[in-house]
Amino acid sequence: MDDKKRLLDIINLIDENKNIIDIGTDHGLVPLYLAKNGISKNILATDISEKSLEKLRTALTDELSTIISTRVTDGFKGIEKKENQVAIIAGMGANTIIDIIEDSLDFAENLDYLILASNINTEKL
Ligand SMILES: C[S@@+](CC[C@H](N)C(=O)[O-])C[C@H]1O[C@@H](n2cnc3c(N)ncnc32)[C@H](O)[C@@H]1O
Repeated sequence: MDDKKRLLDIINLIDENKNIIDIGTDHGLVPLYLAKNGISKNILATDISEKSLEKLRTALTDELSTIISTRVTDGFKGIEKKENQVAIIAGMGANTIIDIIEDSLDFAENLDYLILASNINTEKL
C-alpha cells in the first residue's frame, strides 16, 4: 500500500484535541502532521530505538517541541495515563502490537481508543 495513503488513513481516524501517543513513531510523520495541522496540541512520540527517534527529533522546531515530546521506551512502559488519551501503534507486526497491549492492559483500557495498523499477521489483531 502507498505509505502516504496508509498514514493519512490513520490520521483521518483521529479526533481533534486528543492527547496522542504514537508508539514506534520512527520518522514521526503522523505526529508532525497532527501538530502542523493543529489536530492535537499534546503528542507523545515514542520508539524503542533511540536511533529511530532521532529522525523525528531532528525535525522538531522550537514551536513543534511545545506540542510534540519524545521518549525512548518499550510500548507503553513509563507513560503517564491521561484523560482524553488516544494511542496509535502502526507499522509493526501484529505479534509486537499484541505484546505491547498485553504488557500494559490497564493502560490500554484507559485510552479513549487505539488505532492499530500492523504490517504482518494482521488477521491476528
Ligand atoms: C516501520 S516503523 C513504523 C513507523 C510508523 N509508526 C509508521 O507506521 O510508519 C516501526 C518502528 O517501531 C519501533 N518499535 C518496534 N517495537 C517497538 C516497541 N515494543 N515499542 C516501541 N517502538 C517499537 C521500531 O524501532 C521502528 O522505529
